[in-house]
Amino acid sequence: AAGASSDPSSLQFAQPPHKIEQYQQVSTGHRGQVLIRWGDKVLADAPAFDPLNQSAAAQEKQFGYNNDFVAFMPLPRGSKNSGHGLLCVNQEYTNPELMFPGLTKTGAVKQMNQAQAEIEMAAHGHSVVEIRKTAEGWQVVESSQYNRRISALSTPMTITGPAAGHARLKTKADPTGRHIIGTINNCAGGVTPWGTVLIAEENFNNYFGGDPEGLPEAANYKRLGIKGKSAYSWSRFHERFDIEKEPNEPNRFGWVVEIDPYDPKSVPVKRSTLGRFKHEAATCVVAPNGQVVVYSGDDEAFEYIYRFVTAGKYNANNLAANRDLLDTGVLSVAKFSEDGSLRWLPLVFGQGPLTPANGFQSQADVLIETRRAADLVGATPMDRPEDVEANPVNGRVYVMLTNNTTRKPEQINKMNPRASNAYGHILELLPPGTQGNDGAPIAQHTADEFRWEVLLLAGNPSEPKHGAKYHPDTAEKGNWMAAPDNCCFDNRGRLWITTDQGSAQSKSGIPDGVYACDVSGAGRALPKFFYACPKDAEMCGPAFTPDNRTLFVAVQHPGEDADSTFNAPSTRWPDFSRSMPPRPSVVAITRNDGGVIGG
Ligand code: FEO
Ligand code: CA
Ligand code: CA
Ligand code: CA
Repeated sequence: AAGASSDPSSLQFAQPPHKIEQYQQVSTGHRGQVLIRWGDKVLADAPAFDPLNQSAAAQEKQFGYNNDFVAFMPLPRGSKNSGHGLLCVNQEYTNPELMFPGLTKTGAVKQMNQAQAEIEMAAHGHSVVEIRKTAEGWQVVESSQYNRRISALSTPMTITGPAAGHARLKTKADPTGRHIIGTINNCAGGVTPWGTVLIAEENFNNYFGGDPEGLPEAANYKRLGIKGKSAYSWSRFHERFDIEKEPNEPNRFGWVVEIDPYDPKSVPVKRSTLGRFKHEAATCVVAPNGQVVVYSGDDEAFEYIYRFVTAGKYNANNLAANRDLLDTGVLSVAKFSEDGSLRWLPLVFGQGPLTPANGFQSQADVLIETRRAADLVGATPMDRPEDVEANPVNGRVYVMLTNNTTRKPEQINKMNPRASNAYGHILELLPPGTQGNDGAPIAQHTADEFRWEVLLLAGNPSEPKHGAKYHPDTAEKGNWMAAPDNCCFDNRGRLWITTDQGSAQSKSGIPDGVYACDVSGAGRALPKFFYACPKDAEMCGPAFTPDNRTLFVAVQHPGEDADSTFNAPSTRWPDFSRSMPPRPSVVAITRNDGGVIGG
C-alpha cells in the first residue's frame, strides 16, 4: 500500500488506471463531484441551459466555457473557512465546434454568425459563485449576492499603472486609454494576500483580425503572434477586434487583471506594472520584509519567466490599504546561468538598453513591449513557462515548463536540457534562505540573485529516448506525466501538478490529470497519479480548501479533438446525454471518509 515502508512517497492514495477514458477517474476512496458546468446558473435569474437555444444574454448569466484557473476564497473574507466560500473561475477560451451544431473545428471562424460570436464573447472571462459544503457535498448558492459573471462582451474595466492613458492604448471608443471592455484568454491566475484574485490574459493575440503590416505597432504585434489571421470570428462583427480599423486595441490586452470577488460591484483593474505578454499565472507571496512578489510565466516556446516586486509593503491589519499596492514596483525577468544561479534583471525605462535609442520613450513603452525589453536585457529563453508558484512550506518557487518541441540540439542548456522537449520539465528556483530547504519564512523572494535546480524531467522513464528523470521508483510505484501546466501545494508543501498535453495526448496514450509528489525527503520527485480527465480534456485548477479536505479541479475542453463536433464529440462528459455536448466543468474532489487529501 502507498505509504508502506517500501514506498518512499508520503502521499497516501490509490492511483487510478493511467488510461484515457471518456469519463473521469478518481483515486479509489474519493468522490469527484461535478460542481458546476458550462451553462449552469451563475446569476439567480439565469435561464436553464439549452444548447439548442443559446443567447449571449443568457450566457452572460451562466457559467462560461473552458474553465481554467480556480481559486477558493473563504467566507467570510480573510477567514480560513473550508466549508463556505467563493469559487472564482477563469473561462479561458471557447470551442465553437463543440458549442454549436453545424460547425467544424477548422471552418468555424468562417461558418459562425454574429449571435454565436457574441455567445463566445459572453462565455469568456470569469465566474464567481458562492458555494457551501453540505452533508451531500458541495452546493452552489444560486441566490447569492456575490455571484457574478465577467465577460469579454460587456464588463467594463480600468487600467492603472504607467501604461494607463498612454496614446498607444487610445481607441475610438476610449479616447482616454483607460477604459477597456472585457478580458480574454485568462489562463492561470493567483490570489493576493488581501483577498483579491489576479487573472492573467494569455493568448490574446488569437482574437485579432486584420494585417499588422504597415501599422505603427506592426513589430509589437508580430512579436506577440498577431499575424493577420484570427482564430476567432469576432473581428468580422466587432470592429475593435480588427486591427486595421482599431489599431491600438491589442495593446489593451495581455495584462494581469485584479478582481475583488467579495465586492460584486467592483470594477476589475488591469495592472500594467506587471507587464504585457502571454501571462500564465500571477502568483503572490509576501517576502519576509513585507514586499509582495508576483511570479508569472510567458507561455510560448523560448519565452521568459518574470517577477514583479511591489515598492510598498503588505498591510495585514488593514486589507483595504493594499488596494493599489500592485500599481508601483519593479518588473524583472529571469536570466539563468548554467552554474546554478539566476539573476532577476529589472525592466526599468532608462536602465541598460531600455532607452530612446532602442525605441522606448517611457516605462509605458517598456511595459507595452515587455518581451522586446526582456530580449534586450538578455533574459533566458525557456521551454514554455506556464505556472510559477512559491511553495508556502519550503519557500522554493516551482516553474512548470510545459514542453518545447522546437528546441534544437544546439540550443540545449542545463535549464532546458532536452532538444525537441515533448514532455516538459519542472524547475525549482531557490531564493536565498532556502538552500537548506529550511522554509518559507526566510525565503528572500525580493533578492536579485537566486539559485535553481531541476526537480524532474517529464516523459516515460521506461522509454530511454524520452530522457525522463524522476525518483528511481517512479515506473514501479508512481506514474509518469507529460506537459506539466498548473500546480498548487498542500499544507505539507507537497506539489500537486495538473497536465495539458493538448493534441499530443493521443500520441502519449496517457490522460491529462492530477499528479502529486514530495519535493523533499525520500519520495522527492516520485509522482503519484490521482485523477484522470475524460478524453481530450486538459486539467486545470487545482485549488485546495484551507483544510485540504477538498481539491477543486477544472476539466477544460473535454472532447477537443480534430474531428470532434457538437453532434459527434469524442466524449459527452459529464452529462452523457445525447442532447448535450461535452461541458467543461469544475469538479470538487473529497475523500469518502472526509479526511485530508494525500494524507
Ligand atoms: Fe492557457 Fe499556457 O495555457
Ligand atoms: Ca488552458
Ligand atoms: Ca495553462
Ligand atoms: Ca498548457
